[in-house]
Amino acid sequence: MSKEQRVRDLLQQMTLEEKVGQMTQVTVDLVSQGVDGRDEPHRIDRAKLEEAILAHHVGSIFNVGPSAYSREHWIDVITEIQDVATQQSRLKIPVLYGIDAIHGANYTLGATLFPQPIAMAATWNSDLVSQEGEITAWEVRASGIPWNFYPVLDVGRQPLWPRLWETFGEDVHLAKSMGVSYIRGLQGTDFGAPDKAAACLKHYVGYSFPISGKDRTAAWISERMMREYFLPGFEAGIAAGAPTVMANSAEVDGIPGHSNYHLLTEVLRGEMHFKGIVDSDWMDIERLYSRDHVAESPKEAVRMAVMAGVDMSMVPLDYSFHDLLLACAKDGSVPLSRIDEAVTRILTVKLEMGVLDRPYPDLRMAKKFATPEAAQTNFQAARECLTLLKNDRKTLPLAKNTKILVTGPTANVLSSLNGGWTITWMGDVEALYPKDKNTVLRALQEKFGKDQVVYVAGSTFDDVVDVQAAVAATKGVDAIIVCLGEKAYSENWGNIDDLTLDAAQIELARALIDTGKPVVLLLIEGRPRIIRTLVEKAAAIVMCYCPGMEGGNAIADILCGDANPSGKLPLSYPKYPNALVPYDVKPADVADGNTYNPEFPFGHGLSYTTFEYSDLAVDRDEIGVKDTMTVSITVKNTGVVAGSEVVQLFVRDEYGSVSRPVRQLKGFRKVFLAPGEEKRVQMAITAGDLSFIGRDNTRIIEPGAFTLMINKFSRPCTLRADAVHRTMNSEGTR
Ligand code: GLC
Repeated sequence: MSKEQRVRDLLQQMTLEEKVGQMTQVTVDLVSQGVDGRDEPHRIDRAKLEEAILAHHVGSIFNVGPSAYSREHWIDVITEIQDVATQQSRLKIPVLYGIDAIHGANYTLGATLFPQPIAMAATWNSDLVSQEGEITAWEVRASGIPWNFYPVLDVGRQPLWPRLWETFGEDVHLAKSMGVSYIRGLQGTDFGAPDKAAACLKHYVGYSFPISGKDRTAAWISERMMREYFLPGFEAGIAAGAPTVMANSAEVDGIPGHSNYHLLTEVLRGEMHFKGIVDSDWMDIERLYSRDHVAESPKEAVRMAVMAGVDMSMVPLDYSFHDLLLACAKDGSVPLSRIDEAVTRILTVKLEMGVLDRPYPDLRMAKKFATPEAAQTNFQAARECLTLLKNDRKTLPLAKNTKILVTGPTANVLSSLNGGWTITWMGDVEALYPKDKNTVLRALQEKFGKDQVVYVAGSTFDDVVDVQAAVAATKGVDAIIVCLGEKAYSENWGNIDDLTLDAAQIELARALIDTGKPVVLLLIEGRPRIIRTLVEKAAAIVMCYCPGMEGGNAIADILCGDANPSGKLPLSYPKYPNALVPYDVKPADVADGNTYNPEFPFGHGLSYTTFEYSDLAVDRDEIGVKDTMTVSITVKNTGVVAGSEVVQLFVRDEYGSVSRPVRQLKGFRKVFLAPGEEKRVQMAITAGDLSFIGRDNTRIIEPGAFTLMINKFSRPCTLRADAVHRTMNSEGTR
């Protein structure tokens, strides 16, 4: 029997109540013991579970209680849920369980917790990102869960936004490439396989660009900007086979994402041909009424969202959606055909995920949970994300007999290394972190020897603790490691009014710089916090982002030279609080004395060795709409230590019918080179790569002159006049 026939047969047997139930998704708290379901240790409440599944026919449950469960407890939870669904319900339709696993299986104790997405992007290593997806699939499946609410394909172009670190950075090409690599690793060729999981692209679309920089506040994004910067990642994720999308929690141009028929149906379905599930985000249908005031009642909010294109409601704390959608179906304000369409999508994805046929956890996956190989991959990712921003007088690497002072608020905590979505939603409960993982301090004590390392707290994140004690402790040390940055946070709990780093941390660093001893700043943060007053006099600066559970060890390796830094900024590091511009500025932004003037530019990152580029060449000087141009260049390691270099190919469209960025990333390759070794690196450019969103808001390929740029080399190229003007995807192929 075909998949379509099987779903049709099941749908025909379902009552209206059962159909509406399939569209209802609730949090595990609703079916757990305790007043608000958050008793610890966590236990399912059988009576609540039966009410959800037998009385309300709930199709999906998600999330974790107050803190991460053991893998074994996850198995018990999923087993009990499927027992009720498959043994007690009328049609025995299994429940689809979803979880946020954004840097590994962050809600399963002992899982492999990778650097956060912004750090994974800083590796510029697509293979590592794909391996992260693969390992994450193993470990969520080992927890009995087939569906991961990740990757975030929002482009991170607003550095104030408290979820910037959940993105792959400010550039469309880099973010799209990393997102697709992750999906391919997570899903493989069949996301229903026992060791694969289904992706969820989020948050569709434009959530990452709030004018205020504060989470879930208003964004104003024109159609052309939406199509140029924010849609391509989702388009690529859908083309890569992701079966689910999560809607944007916020509003764009006054239209809340959950009520945007144009984006959720006309664009997502009509243009991108997405066939899977659109899931709501947390309470965001109800918020059309209670927050956005675009619906005059909770029932109108349900009608509005379902008719806009939302198939499943992450309600998630009650059964209001179930009851209100029933009412809409009965009064005809939501046609039964729309409900059947949504339920067909849900059942189809459940079938494809293997949930209908294999609803129970596959216990064989235990052998793929938290393997040594996974830990090694994680350690490599942590080393490759670290970005050396400054290194005066070759301060780094430090000899292992160096006596060092370690100080600052991120020196001796795992929570800042990991950030939000770690064991708890906020990631800030230090006591719950594993005792066998190294903070920066512990890793440096292991690396340099405890008797070589002096530690003084110096300051908390926003309070000066004892700067004088820190200054006094510099006597007798050769170098000072100042660990700055941010505490762990998630979503609006990370809202700030000023991107400048907290004053207490600046004060601590300044006092230590004033001792005259070499100061190394470690920036362990989810956002590029401004450190203008420290940069000139700091001897070295390393952007560490949130490097994950192996981050402490990776930082120690880089500081002593056991690893050569190869990270490159996936974002522009601002110099001033009111100069928050991404690198792909327009000609007017750099005319009449204006400049792109970050502290450190997009793509920047130093090494302990040096690289020399030569002989930029193209295999043709012009291309037509169906041609591919091969761009090649030679890179040589001209230093004495091995290292990896990221070759970055930028393109400038010299003239366009709309103003074109002075440069845009269109290709990158990371190459490892031994001392003295050289390699010829090749990248392809197609006409689609040169396309853009024209004045009529459709994607076009426009003939004309372009410039290809790698390092300090550039070559002209021409797009032949036979290029056509038509609607197509960002590869220019449809
Ligand atoms: C949150 C987030 C979303 C997450 C969802 C479920 O509010 O916006 O990214 O997947 O709720 O936890």
